Amino acid sequence: MGKDVIVACDFASAEQTFAFLDKFTGKKPFVKIGMELYYAEGPEIVREIKKRGHKIFLDLKLHDIPNTVKKAMAVLRNLDVDITNLHAAGTKNMMEAALEGLTREDGTRPLLIAVTQLTSTDQESMERDLLIKEPIDRVVMHYAKTAKEAGLDGIVCSPLEAGKVHASCGEGFLTITPGVRFADGEVGDQKRVMTPAQAKEIGSDYIVVGRPITASSDPVAAYERCVREFCD
Ligand code: C5P
Repeated sequence: MGKDVIVACDFASAEQTFAFLDKFTGKKPFVKIGMELYYAEGPEIVREIKKRGHKIFLDLKLHDIPNTVKKAMAVLRNLDVDITNLHAAGTKNMMEAALEGLTREDGTRPLLIAVTQLTSTDQESMERDLLIKEPIDRVVMHYAKTAKEAGLDGIVCSPLEAGKVHASCGEGFLTITPGVRFADGEVGDQKRVMTPAQAKEIGSDYIVVGRPITASSDPVAAYERCVREFCD
């Protein structure tokens, strides 16, 4: 899989999701299904979107004891998604167990990506609530290296961190980066943003774009603009 734009389908129902996806009559976008949509509609929404020919990033961010995550991943592998994820904070043991669970009998599996520190966690809350005293960028890089050692395929990170992650974990270690905005667009609640062209420049492998596409008056044109800026 090469560079691609993943559209965050942060909708509350299958109906809204299909009304949105029906607009795409040409290239079928790579779709991210998050907790909101998955918990509303269950695994059927994944099967249905797959049947329509989209690649899928199932963003459920698993985090539990290794045995539970392994068994949950063994269920998810049957959904035939292309990418799924977990929290690196679950430790290397949990990540290794997850990979085992995700691997099908024929040796194939979806890509497995780690979430490091959520962008909603800042230095202050990390120190106060988690008692982690190291600088947050060091923590993020440490989680990335642990994920790589566990055999994972990459991490979710800010596009600003993608270059550093590649330098430390290798060019082949995937960086999936949200927080993307058009130069002339609304920033909204995202704090540290980059344009698709800048994300390409810095070496992101996939950008995750939600509202700049889903809330646009012309979602197909906004998607095509992202693809032009990021992939071409
Ligand atoms: O609408 P917007 O482009 O901000 O959507 C970004 C998507 O990426 C959302 O689904 C959001 O949950 C997700 N995400 C993020 N920041 C992270 C991790 C995931 O914005 N650090």
